[in-house]
Amino acid sequence: MDFRHLKYFVAVAQERSFTRAAERLYISQPPLSRQIQQLEEELGLLLFDREARPLALTEAGRFFYGRAVRMLEQLDESIAMTRRLSQVERRLVIGFVPSTMYGALPRIARLFRSRKPQTPLVLVEKTSVEQVEALKAGQIDVGFGRIRFDDPTLKREVLREERLVLAIPGEHPLAAESGPVSLAQAAAHPLLVYPRKPRPSYADHVLSLFRDLGLEPAEVHEIQEMQTALGLVASGMGLCVVPESAQKLRREEVVYRTLVEPSATSAIIMSTRLNDQSEDIVLLRELIDEVYRLQAAEKIEAERKAAASAPSALTGPRRS
Ligand code: BEZ
Repeated sequence: MDFRHLKYFVAVAQERSFTRAAERLYISQPPLSRQIQQLEEELGLLLFDREARPLALTEAGRFFYGRAVRMLEQLDESIAMTRRLSQVERRLVIGFVPSTMYGALPRIARLFRSRKPQTPLVLVEKTSVEQVEALKAGQIDVGFGRIRFDDPTLKREVLREERLVLAIPGEHPLAAESGPVSLAQAAAHPLLVYPRKPRPSYADHVLSLFRDLGLEPAEVHEIQEMQTALGLVASGMGLCVVPESAQKLRREEVVYRTLVEPSATSAIIMSTRLNDQSEDIVLLRELIDEVYRLQAAEKIEAERKAAASAPSALTGPRRS
């Protein structure tokens, strides 16, 4: 038995048809049937119920299917890691959800390029769900996402919990006031959530923030991308809950208000393959801390400057 047998078996089990599996594998059907037969002979049991329409797995076949999928995933992971370790693939591929581009990611990427110019850095946009599959298949080395997924082959770390804000059309009654607003106030108006798919996504996280408080938004519209959702907010179509770093966008047309609920946050999660401790990944993790330290120092400095330039309450206005 070799990995080809497992690959063929998984394809037939997923397609529930020898014909479709053969098409997917770009081979003809007779050699595919022979390989599955060989596998069954070696195991001494039947993996498929050939009388069933569509083709079905036997009980033993269902058990073996789960194991075969895991073995193939482990093989993909081992190939990706071996390539990285052997330096054949001296590049670091990062998958990211779009909203992280408004946070610390560009600065981290710039620092990485300057500290490690010999490692080409590649950035590819991927949803949190897509990052899981891409990590396992060795297509990316690091994922920055917002949704927690449990996978025994991946390591995940919450880097920080980012505050969420409510994006409001400029002409909307909720935009007339400043200061914090509540999810209960937001729930009474049409709500735009993103991305539409794949699920579960940030959209489900936002909806569960409402539902955890016993709230059901009056009207929900699913949008594929954050940028489009904010464009629709600017057009007056509804409200949208976004990470605070997105406040840089559409500032002339959209009003952003902080959400009062302490639960209104979204995690920024770094995911890697479980045993990938490559130099590049270790460096990337160190640079994230460095950027966080720089940002904290800059914030303190900006607050100090703002306090210094504000009119002093103690001195009061000067009389002439
Ligand atoms: C952040 O904004 O905290 C962040 C974004 C992407 C990668 C790492 C950190």
